Amino acid sequence: MTPPRFFGLIPAAGAGARMGAECPKQYVPLAGKLMLMHVLDTFAFSSKIAHTFVVVSAEDGYIEEALSGAKHLDDRVTVIFEGGASRHQSVLNGLLAMRQQVGDGDWVLVHDAARPGLTSGLIDRLIDAVQSDEVGGLLALPVVDTLKRGDTEGRVEATVARDGLWAAQTPQMFRYALLRRALEQAREVTDEASAIEALGLRPKLVEGSPRNFKVTLPHDVALAELHLKGDA
Ligand code: CTP
Ligand code: MG
Repeated sequence: MTPPRFFGLIPAAGAGARMGAECPKQYVPLAGKLMLMHVLDTFAFSSKIAHTFVVVSAEDGYIEEALSGAKHLDDRVTVIFEGGASRHQSVLNGLLAMRQQVGDGDWVLVHDAARPGLTSGLIDRLIDAVQSDEVGGLLALPVVDTLKRGDTEGRVEATVARDGLWAAQTPQMFRYALLRRALEQAREVTDEASAIEALGLRPKLVEGSPRNFKVTLPHDVALAELHLKGDA
């Protein structure tokens, strides 16, 4: 039996409404390189990743130009023009489109295009911690703040115990067949782990990093650039 391989799957078909930029946020330049290109380079340069698939919308008018200046990605990255109406649907479309190249037992690392702070070190940490696991797992950060639940008037209704609480990040890493079945069966979910949990399974939590935060609002750009420039 050949050992399982590791594939990247990057959902990048969102509109970036909360960012409100002139283009979808994955195409905003950060520290001299488009956000999505930071992510694709990190996956492409990771020696453990066999190949990476990126899902963009059918009408995407940016990806071709972005990749035309990145010949080193030619045989490392495949673009799938089949984004869905939600992240869940985009990931599922990606899984269906990649099925010829990927075995049921191969691992898929799903990673948001909007987390450009990922490093190959974090990919290694996740793979090392999860590759012999039955279920799979995800990067996440233990919650450090005291948590409040607010009511409709913006007043504190309750303080929520933070013991055992983690904030989910990506990549989230599961075997191809299990992940596909989970996403096909789940109601709309905002991450892969939720779909796996809905099958009664318990994904493994692996400590991520603050630098791997999701760039969402305009003010996130400066912080992302601080992390990315620190790499140089
Ligand atoms: N995504 C996707 N397909 C969608 C929606 C989101 O592939 N229909 C991707 C985004 O491109 C992003 C990731 O899922 O890489 C996480 O989503 P989010 O941060 O919410 O990005 P957007 O949906 O683009 O942003 P917003 O919600 O502010 O519009
Ligand atoms: Mg969104």
